[in-house]
Amino acid sequence: MITTGQKIAIQRTDSSRLSSTNLNDIKFGRVFSDHMLVMDYQDGAWQPPTIMPFGDLHMSPAALVLHYSQTIFEGLKAYKSADGSVNLFRPQANITRMNHSAKRLCMPQIPEELFLEALTTLVGLDRGWIPEGDGAALYIRPFMFASDEYIGVKPSDGYRFIIITCPVRGYYNEPVRVKIETTYSRAFPGGTGETKCGGNYAGGLYPAKLGQDAGYHQLIWTDGLTHQYIEESGTMNVFFNIDGKLITPALDGTILRGVTRDSIIRIAKDEGFPVEERKVSVEEVVTAAREKRLISAFGAGTAATIAHIASIAHGDEVFELPAVGERKLAERIGTVLDGIRRGHLNDKYGWVVRV
Ligand code: COI
Repeated sequence: MITTGQKIAIQRTDSSRLSSTNLNDIKFGRVFSDHMLVMDYQDGAWQPPTIMPFGDLHMSPAALVLHYSQTIFEGLKAYKSADGSVNLFRPQANITRMNHSAKRLCMPQIPEELFLEALTTLVGLDRGWIPEGDGAALYIRPFMFASDEYIGVKPSDGYRFIIITCPVRGYYNEPVRVKIETTYSRAFPGGTGETKCGGNYAGGLYPAKLGQDAGYHQLIWTDGLTHQYIEESGTMNVFFNIDGKLITPALDGTILRGVTRDSIIRIAKDEGFPVEERKVSVEEVVTAAREKRLISAFGAGTAATIAHIASIAHGDEVFELPAVGERKLAERIGTVLDGIRRGHLNDKYGWVVRV
């Protein structure tokens, strides 16, 4: 059946997979909801978007993205609230960031209003796929890639913008063991570190694999020039509670402008916790850990929200951090953040968009 709303054409699936999917037993990123939104950029303009059944794409093996990685993405979540309404968390922030990434990767801007309408229409259509319970949400993945059939190196003329969604529960099953990485780099000044482009993630795979082979879940990335300053943790921003102060590396162009990072900073300040955004040296963290002044550390991102760090390795030393149950500051921030997203707490920030 084809219905046409104001701007978005909708081709509904006639064989929904929802009733045969167990939303209580899902692995992150493996199960996808019934529909996706697709919009092409051709002849210098975005063509009308279509919501269609989730399915494979047909593309040329010469598509530019497959060769030179001109591709960007976002991650945000929708939550089912207690009264049954569907809440999108800070979609505007993701829209802004995606357009920021697009500029850096020489890709076209996506009109903000259309982007938001695409998100709300798609999530509204597949609202039945939003799981309920602790840590449960619909993870929304907008992405854009270069679609020209051409293998010369240049910005593509054509692009495809797609939004897919997947029901998710937790991202990590347990607090993570991390290692401070001082050989490989995720980003460098003037590079693409602060954007959400595919290449940033591809480049991190090999060092992360070496870390996993050595028994760590993730790496703590340090700056590409000196390896003396901490930047991120795995695919997330990173926070340290040292002596009761919440400290995180300042955004300097190499660090992702995390939406969860920003939300945590604002909540922490409003809850009366001292917050410092600045350069964070490896030396400072290691010394604090040695002197038992490192009360907690965690990664912050959309997928995991707060990913507690159990231990930090640096060279031959491994520092075990206090048990998660003792981490009151992180717990309080997590409770407020979750309460706002799920509509239990007043959204004084205006972050939630109801679908
Ligand atoms: C996030 O933490 O939200 C991420 O970007 C991780 C994602 C690459 C799965």
